[in-house]
Amino acid sequence: MATEYSSLFTFFGGTGDLAKRKLYPSLFKLYVRGNLGEHFAVLGTARDSWTDDKFREVVTQSIKDDQPDADMHAAEIFVSHFYYIAHDVTDKAHYAVMKDLVEKLDKQYSINGNRIFYLSMAPRFFGEVALNLKSEGLLSDDGSNRLVIEKPFGTDFSTAETLNKQLSGAFDETQIYRIDHYLGKEMVQNIQALRFGNTFVESLWNNRYIDNVQVTLSEKLGVEDRAGYYDTAGALRDMVQNHIMQIVSQLAMEQPVSFTDADVRVEKIKALRSLRVYSPAEAAKNFIRGQYGANDTEPAYRDEPNVPKDSHNDTFVAGKLLFDNYRWSGVPFYVRTGKRLADKFTRIDVVFKKPLIDIFAFPQNRDNSLAPNVLTIYVEPNSGFSLQLNAKTAGQGFETEPIHLDFQQDVAQKEETPEPYERLLHDTLKGDQTNFASWDEVSYAWKFVDVIQKLWDSETPDFPNYISGSMGPAASDELLQRDHRAWVYRLNR
Ligand code: BG6
Repeated sequence: MATEYSSLFTFFGGTGDLAKRKLYPSLFKLYVRGNLGEHFAVLGTARDSWTDDKFREVVTQSIKDDQPDADMHAAEIFVSHFYYIAHDVTDKAHYAVMKDLVEKLDKQYSINGNRIFYLSMAPRFFGEVALNLKSEGLLSDDGSNRLVIEKPFGTDFSTAETLNKQLSGAFDETQIYRIDHYLGKEMVQNIQALRFGNTFVESLWNNRYIDNVQVTLSEKLGVEDRAGYYDTAGALRDMVQNHIMQIVSQLAMEQPVSFTDADVRVEKIKALRSLRVYSPAEAAKNFIRGQYGANDTEPAYRDEPNVPKDSHNDTFVAGKLLFDNYRWSGVPFYVRTGKRLADKFTRIDVVFKKPLIDIFAFPQNRDNSLAPNVLTIYVEPNSGFSLQLNAKTAGQGFETEPIHLDFQQDVAQKEETPEPYERLLHDTLKGDQTNFASWDEVSYAWKFVDVIQKLWDSETPDFPNYISGSMGPAASDELLQRDHRAWVYRLNR
């Protein structure tokens, strides 16, 4: 039996793309799974002057688009809990109207004061909305009040800190849910199961046995129609500061005392504290950037709609991270991400050290030709693991060759897997913050990224420097070659 929660959701940015594509369909899935019984209501708000009926039509359509086989009778009951008010977030008078409606819906659906405020809107309003919610009396005294906030959380450490101070004026840290949708992905959550549920994995998970770790978040699409935001952010802020840092912190953290949000956070924060913050000279050596140029079918970044012709924005980043702690000293974590690359996938490759001697090549064993063991975590599009081992080639003689132990989730398992947003909304209802970024995590990530961004802002790159459909600029390969290493995932050229 699914646990049922009661809550009043208020979606700021309720007419927006994210709400339509992800939030409403995910909420409906929770409803169908039985996590929302009768005691819930949804208030959508934005500047548009929609009626409740129009709002319900849009939500119904978003469910149909996402789940063509949805039970439309259930959808009809579900959307009857939806209400809409037009709202100017900067106008305090509007909050009074909202308060009346919230209190009315709370009574009507017996919600007992449990409120989730979801900010999926222009980030410049995040702080103001949070403060107004408190000052205008929208927070309940009896139930729980939770604030869910979409990225970006600031544009550097200082703006993030200002925003955090504003939010803390209305909500405490246990009430703030900073979304990083990568934390809702099945295989990102599996990192901890893999590490802390398997003796052989965790006992080798250190600098004695691991040579390097590689994290790749590769995207096939270009900037699409998001130039307004993306051209001011770039891949470093858009993907590294949040998603990559969250993945890396889970790979690097120590074992938590228990698998609870508080204990997991303590360890992630400790890991991020030991991440070496580079000097500008070290940043120049350890991080490289790129911007895509055209290929036969796709335009260069600078020719995309609304991108300035002389944009210096990074659409690709690769870098080396170092942790100064006992477990990881000397082990590089290589990361890369970019748009318009060869394919859309996310994977983590953990490369183990080779055996010290290759006895099979004796007496010429100084040239160790054994392949390293590589543990790959496939995050997307496939979900699974693969372990590369050396084994004897069948037949006469004694050659060795790399083989792979593979596990891929099957279709049934995939169907069971909730979408990241469904999972994160469920966690918010439950009050579980494990899969949300804490302020300390966000602040360490910004401090690390700020040095690199500042350096890049002070120099003019020679862009474009990679072709659409490749795996980024040559400098990305050179970053590893310098250390006598190579990316495990490479294009067959
Ligand atoms: C978002 C970024 O956070 O993540 C986008 O803003 C990016 O630029 C997206 O495309 C990638 O997410 P996913 O889940 O498709 O890998």
